[in-house]
Amino acid sequence: MKSIYSLLLGIGVSGLLLAGCDKDNKNDGFVVGSDQEQTGGNDNQDNGVASSARNELYRPQVHFTPKKNWINDPNGMVYVDGIYHLYYQYNPQGNGWGNMSWGHATSTDLMHWDEKPVAMVRNQWGDIFSGSAIVDKENVAGFGKNAILAFYTASGEHQQQCLAYSTDGGLTFTQYENNPVIANTSLPDFRDPKVIWHEESGKWIMCLALGWSTQIEFWGSADLKHWEILSTFTTDAARCNIGQWECPDLIRMPYNGGEKWVLIVSNNPGGPVGGSGTEYFVGDFDGKEFKAMNLDYPLWLDYGADNYAGVTWSNAPAGRTLFIGWMNNWNYSGDVPCSPWRSAMTLPRELTLKDVNGSPLLCAPIVKELDGIAGAWRAAVAGEMEKAAAYEAKFAVSLDSNTSIRLANSFGEYMDIEVRPSADMLTVKRGSSTGKTDFHSLFSIPGIQAPLHKDGGEMILHLVLDASSVEIFSEDGRVSVTNLVFPQEPYNRILGVEGVEYRPLSSIW
Ligand code: FRU
Repeated sequence: MKSIYSLLLGIGVSGLLLAGCDKDNKNDGFVVGSDQEQTGGNDNQDNGVASSARNELYRPQVHFTPKKNWINDPNGMVYVDGIYHLYYQYNPQGNGWGNMSWGHATSTDLMHWDEKPVAMVRNQWGDIFSGSAIVDKENVAGFGKNAILAFYTASGEHQQQCLAYSTDGGLTFTQYENNPVIANTSLPDFRDPKVIWHEESGKWIMCLALGWSTQIEFWGSADLKHWEILSTFTTDAARCNIGQWECPDLIRMPYNGGEKWVLIVSNNPGGPVGGSGTEYFVGDFDGKEFKAMNLDYPLWLDYGADNYAGVTWSNAPAGRTLFIGWMNNWNYSGDVPCSPWRSAMTLPRELTLKDVNGSPLLCAPIVKELDGIAGAWRAAVAGEMEKAAAYEAKFAVSLDSNTSIRLANSFGEYMDIEVRPSADMLTVKRGSSTGKTDFHSLFSIPGIQAPLHKDGGEMILHLVLDASSVEIFSEDGRVSVTNLVFPQEPYNRILGVEGVEYRPLSSIW
C-alpha cells in the first residue's frame, strides 16, 4: 500500500478497489477486518493510548495524531453533550493506507484529544470509507432519541451508502439491518456522504461525490433510511475538474445580513499545488438544487499543500461552523517520514463567509480554543522564541512593499515566506532547506502561492509552528496556507520582520 497515492492518482480509490477486489480477496479482507481489526481497536485502548507520550521526531504536539498507524480523512464529526467526536479513516493494522475503518477520538475543547477504540471496522459490505454523523434528536430513524447516526460509504465490489447507529455516545456502532440505504452497482465512484438538516423543506440532505465524473449529487430523506435523488451539481470551470471530486459538505452561512450556501469539494489531484486540495463554491440551495454564484473558481479553502478532505462538525454549538482537515496530500502521504503513526489533522478552523472587495470569501482562522493551550504573548528577541512544544507567532506585514520572512531553527534549516503585495501574493518556499524532503520527489515545492485578498495597508499574519507543520493565517483567516515540513526541531526563529510576538503552545498530549 506504500504507493497508494500513485494508484489514487491513476485510477482513483474506487478503481483500485474494483481492480484489486475479486470475491476471494474481499473475503480475505473481511476475515481480517472483522475479528482481528476489532481486537486491534481494543488493543489500542488497553495500551493506554490516551495517556502515553507522543514525542517521537516529527510528532505533532498540538495537532491530533493517533498513537500509531495510518489515518486519512476526518469522518463523522459531531458535537454531542459537550463532546466533540472526531472519527477518521484509520488502518488498525499498519502505517499505510488499507483495512479502512473509522478510528475515533473525542475532545471537550477541540485541542486535547482522547483516542478511543476503533468505532467501525470493515464488514461484509467492504471497507468503511468516509462519511458523516448526525444526532437523531427526534428519533426519526427509530434507533432511539439522540442516537448518533453515521453515514459512510461501504467500499467493496461497489461503493454504496450505509447507515450505522450508536446508542452509547458514539463509542460503538450497530449496522442498520437494511443496508445499504443507497445501493449502487453502476457508478465507479459514489462516496463520502455528508448529511445535513434542511429546515425549510423538513428534510435531511445527503451530498455525495462522484469522483472522476466531477459531480456532487444531493439526495433527500424524511426518515434517514429512505433516500431519493434531488439533483446533481457540476461546473463548467475547467480548472475545478482536473482531479476527482471527494468529501463534499454543504454549509449554510450568514453573509452580508442574509445567507449563502457553501459547497465544499475536495479535489485530488487537481489541488492548488498539484495533488490534493479543498475547493468551494458559493451559492444558493433551495432544498433540492445548489446553484453556484458566478465567481472566479476555483476558490480554495486553503492554498497550502496539506489540507484535504475536511468537512464541518454536525450539531456544532449555535452559530459556529467548525472544520478540520487531513494535514497531508495524496501526492506523497504514503511516504511522509512518520512512525509509528502516519498523518495528522489540521488545527480545527472556524469558517466564516466574508465580503472581501465585493465577493464572498471563505475565511478559515484557527478556533479560539487555541487560547487554552497558549501562554502569554511576548516579544521574540531578535526573532528568537524560547523553547516550547510549539509556537503561535504574529507580526504585521506592510502591504505597500515586499517582505521576505525566514523561519529557521538551530540546525540551520529554514523555510522562506515572501509577501508581494503588488502581485497580491504570498509565496511559501518548501525546498530542501526546510528539513527532510527527499522521501518523495513531489514533496519539495519551490513556490506555494496564496492570494492575499488585501484591502488595507497592512496585514497581521499568524503562524502556528509545530514539529512537522507550518500553518499561516491572516488574522481573519482570509489567508490560509497549511504545509507539512520535516525539520529536526520546530522552527523557533522568525527573521526578516520587526516586532514579532509569540506565545508558547503547550503539548496536547
Ligand atoms: C479521500 C478519500 C475518500 C474515501 C477515502 C478512503 O481522501 O479518497 O474519497 O472515502 O479517502 O480512505
